[in-house]
Amino acid sequence: MGAKIRKAILPVAGFGTRVLPATKAVPKEMLAVFDRPAIQYVVDEARAAGIEHIVFVTGRNKSAIEDYFDVAYELEESLRQKNKTAQLEDLKPTRLEAGAASFVRQQYPNGLGHAVWCARDIIGDEPFALLLPDMIMVPDSGAPGCLEAMMDVHAAHGGNVIGVSAVAPEFAHQYGIVAVGAKKTQGFEIADMVEKPAIGTAPSNLYINGRYILQPQIFNILETQERGAGGEIQLTDGMHKLMAQQTFHGVEFQGRVYDCGDKIGYLRATAALALANGGFSADARAALAEELAIAAARAGS
Ligand code: G1P
Repeated sequence: MGAKIRKAILPVAGFGTRVLPATKAVPKEMLAVFDRPAIQYVVDEARAAGIEHIVFVTGRNKSAIEDYFDVAYELEESLRQKNKTAQLEDLKPTRLEAGAASFVRQQYPNGLGHAVWCARDIIGDEPFALLLPDMIMVPDSGAPGCLEAMMDVHAAHGGNVIGVSAVAPEFAHQYGIVAVGAKKTQGFEIADMVEKPAIGTAPSNLYINGRYILQPQIFNILETQERGAGGEIQLTDGMHKLMAQQTFHGVEFQGRVYDCGDKIGYLRATAALALANGGFSADARAALAEELAIAAARAGS
């Protein structure tokens, strides 16, 4: 039912204030989560779900992202001359095909809703995906990626689709939260949504996990959206308005979500992605167990 989703927006303009000083001179999206920048995992998830074109909503001091997804001619030539084929292979997913990425700047930090709106001309009049690069998703074994599962629900029901995950009640006020309506064979209808509800008022334990499929009418709403939580133009407020005209379905992600916008979330992601990496898993487990034992012994002494 839903048209094919070809384009995805990745908002990458944020300052990364929750992970300073690491992000003072390096974009937070470029910090390594185990052996590759955080953003690589998110681009991989988008491409695995069939995305053909990525629109990066970027800002000043973020040019490392553009360079990262380009061809690194001198580096690659030097690796070729030295026959370093394994390293050349590692670089493959970092190259986006010619014309398959666009970069547009969000000039002021006016919120997620404003960042999405900045991509309106490049998206045009078609539904699109939105992936927040702070959130790295690791599916359970055998389960599809978060966006891939959402694509199926969009194909079945059309409209808008939001990825959700369970959150402990004490953290619900940090996220957008949905209220659950009728259950469907795949996913459920979203009955309501609220951005960063006051403690104790969340309508469910399901938070908006940073993956969206949205209809282009959201851009008209964001154009006139007033500021909400934190004085920012909130995407959730815009989606809430769009709910008056269009359906929203929720899909609970089968896997773990790591919030790399936060120091401990970032630490967890680094450990989890090393443990999930086929070639390194056993060594990573042994190294982490040893470090934990050493830290415990030091704390006890
Ligand atoms: C944004 C969204 C929020 C969502 C969260 C996921 O919040 O506004 O609805 O739950 O991302 O990370 P932010 O993290 O920008 O405060």
